[in-house]
Amino acid sequence: MLHLTSIPDTRAHRQTISAPVALVPTMGALHDGHLRLIEEGCRLADEVWVSIFVNPTQFGPNEDFSRYPRPIEDDLAKCASAGATVVFNPTPEAMYPPGALDTQVDVPAISGAFEGENRPGHFHGVCRVCLKLFNICRPTFACFGQKDYQQLRIIEALVADLNLPIAIQRVPTVREPDGLAMSSRNRYLDDAQRRHALGLSKALDLARHLIETEGEPDPAAVEQAMRDTIAAHHLAPDYAAIRHPDTLAPLAMIDRPVVALVAGRLGSVRLLDNALIGG
Ligand code: PAJ
Repeated sequence: MLHLTSIPDTRAHRQTISAPVALVPTMGALHDGHLRLIEEGCRLADEVWVSIFVNPTQFGPNEDFSRYPRPIEDDLAKCASAGATVVFNPTPEAMYPPGALDTQVDVPAISGAFEGENRPGHFHGVCRVCLKLFNICRPTFACFGQKDYQQLRIIEALVADLNLPIAIQRVPTVREPDGLAMSSRNRYLDDAQRRHALGLSKALDLARHLIETEGEPDPAAVEQAMRDTIAAHHLAPDYAAIRHPDTLAPLAMIDRPVVALVAGRLGSVRLLDNALIGG
């Protein structure tokens, strides 16, 4: 496995490869969810590139950029054993040299609500860095987790609308045995918070039950039930919503497959989860 940090070296290496490349963009601190993405990359292509870059432009001023974990040696070992052929691990200065202008790429129809509302500027940073990674690595496939559903939809829309020659591969959310979605931020939770964090997946289980088993047609009723479950687990709810799975627009009635999106806070830790329900 090659470990590349310079953009020119990465471009030069890419020029030598004619086979399809599957890219797995990450911010490191790799867990089994990320490893599932790498496995999916291996299924799609012989060349599997993992980018590890804690992207400063997607963090707000009061967020956890500086304390975001960066266990690079562990991450490199995990990538090698998962079958990655290249790890691209640039420095912030290489990605954003002094004087770089702040180009904005956005899909405002999908990015305004939820994470976009809670984290102003977040999706500008995500879109900008993904477009840069796509241009540097020129992947045939790029694997994204359903765990960050709004991000996944934004990237799918960006790729479609800008005619990027990349197939986006959706990878289902990998969970702990008790249902908690794996996340690099779970390591910040103490024992009590770890138990409370289950409120998110429990809220999604309840939404699935109400819609698929009880046939509940009213999005507001399901949203209220999800909020109650989140609050009962001592999480401060940020949002609990039933939406159109492509546009994330509100629905008057649940008469088609939907996405349930939830987010909540435990102390300073913010956790998200979602589920595709029905259909
Ligand atoms: P990061 O949070 O490191 O996640 C990298 C990829 O792993 C994303 O596609 C995310 O959805 C996926 N992922 C995370 N947890 C997962 C889980 N439990 N199951 C399945 N997939 C999971 O998302 C980012 O980084 C950044 O925003 C990035 C796209 C790299 C741009 O900086």
